[in-house]
Amino acid sequence: HRRYRPFPTVDLPQRSWPGRTQDRAPRWLSTDLRDGNQALIEPMSPKRKLALFELLVEIGYKEIEVGFPSADAADHEFIRMLIEQDRVPEDVLISVLVPARAELIRGTVEALRGARSAGIHLYNATCPTFRSVVFGMSRAECRALAVEGARLTAACCQRLLPGTEVRYQYSPELFNETEADFALDVCEAVMDVWEPGEGREIILNFPATVERATPNVFADQIEWLERNLSRREHVCLSVHPHNDRGTAVAAAELAVLAGAQRVEGCLLGGGERAGNVDLITLGLNLYTQGVDPGIDFSDLDRIRAIVEECTGQRVHPRQPYVGDLVYSAFSGSHQDAINKGFADAGARTLHTGTTLRNQQWRIPYLPIDPEDVGRSYDALVRITSQSGKGGIAYLMNARHGLRLPRELQIDFARHVQAVAEQSGGEVTPERLRACFESVYVRV
Ligand code: KIV
Ligand code: ZN
Repeated sequence: HRRYRPFPTVDLPQRSWPGRTQDRAPRWLSTDLRDGNQALIEPMSPKRKLALFELLVEIGYKEIEVGFPSADAADHEFIRMLIEQDRVPEDVLISVLVPARAELIRGTVEALRGARSAGIHLYNATCPTFRSVVFGMSRAECRALAVEGARLTAACCQRLLPGTEVRYQYSPELFNETEADFALDVCEAVMDVWEPGEGREIILNFPATVERATPNVFADQIEWLERNLSRREHVCLSVHPHNDRGTAVAAAELAVLAGAQRVEGCLLGGGERAGNVDLITLGLNLYTQGVDPGIDFSDLDRIRAIVEECTGQRVHPRQPYVGDLVYSAFSGSHQDAINKGFADAGARTLHTGTTLRNQQWRIPYLPIDPEDVGRSYDALVRITSQSGKGGIAYLMNARHGLRLPRELQIDFARHVQAVAEQSGGEVTPERLRACFESVYVRV
């Protein structure tokens, strides 16, 4: 399988401005099979879940939340199948979600029997609205629920999973709406039960369950925890941003800059309501900064096809990095700049003897080299009535091997413009060629 090449880090425009950027990738957890699946109109069949699980493993995710067995018997069956058929590679950790409710914990732990290693992810809602409106609980009762859940989880794991390496995770659900001191207090109380220490990492995961503020506010919350959590060296500080305000990617990135070490999300932003944070955008954003995300995105169209097939959700044509149109320019000025960019790269290629792929990517209007994610250059320039001579010249050269002199470019562009206005749509490379031949060759 082809691995992408990280971008060279030199001379990126971002580096010439002050401001911190990420210098390494966080740990990733995919919750496609849990948060992603629970939000689908039609939840995934076992076959689809397996196809998605295998994709996640193949491209490099090492932590995968595989279900919510107490909420769905199909999840229980799926997890049993993964374990009994030995489908989980040794370096991949599967985990399951469970609410802090005594009657659900035992059955959830049982779903993991026989696993080499497994994560158990306990949660309860901690914010004031949920405490008062949904559960009618005081702070103390809410804290006790978490502590009791942690105790029972540990006891069940010790009894039912003797040969399994268990990793504990706790999430104060609606963390972003919870009072800082109370969120910290609950997390410390859970840690008192699970006792993180040497060789015993605890994951504390902080969800923006419903995104309600600008991303800097979430990052400030994470920074505050980073400063105030005890036993910090044995805690993995994780975030779980949702995208209700459309800023989950920014929230995750700022949270990582503020101290988060791990990010939970879904491929293409699946998940409840407006989705979880999109792991592909996050990974490729790092890539554009010269940071290796540790995930193989070299065949994005295949990843997209499998996710679409498994979830039944289609990708928007403008979805960052993945959409059909994100590496296409329609307007004249953009096309002209792209044309000049390729001409310059071609000149550098000839001059230095390097290939385009080994050069620093300097093609205008294209944030990354589409070939790095398995896209061809075929769709870079699309001709409509808004296009100009630069784009037409680019296509005539790239698709038909004809380098048009400048005067001819200007003349031919007038003909193409007329064809585009007449048809009202796109002039495909084939129609462009036919137009060229009808005007200049056969006449
Ligand atoms: O969004 C959320 O709060 C969750 C938790 C259960 C982690 O999905
Ligand atoms: Zn969630």
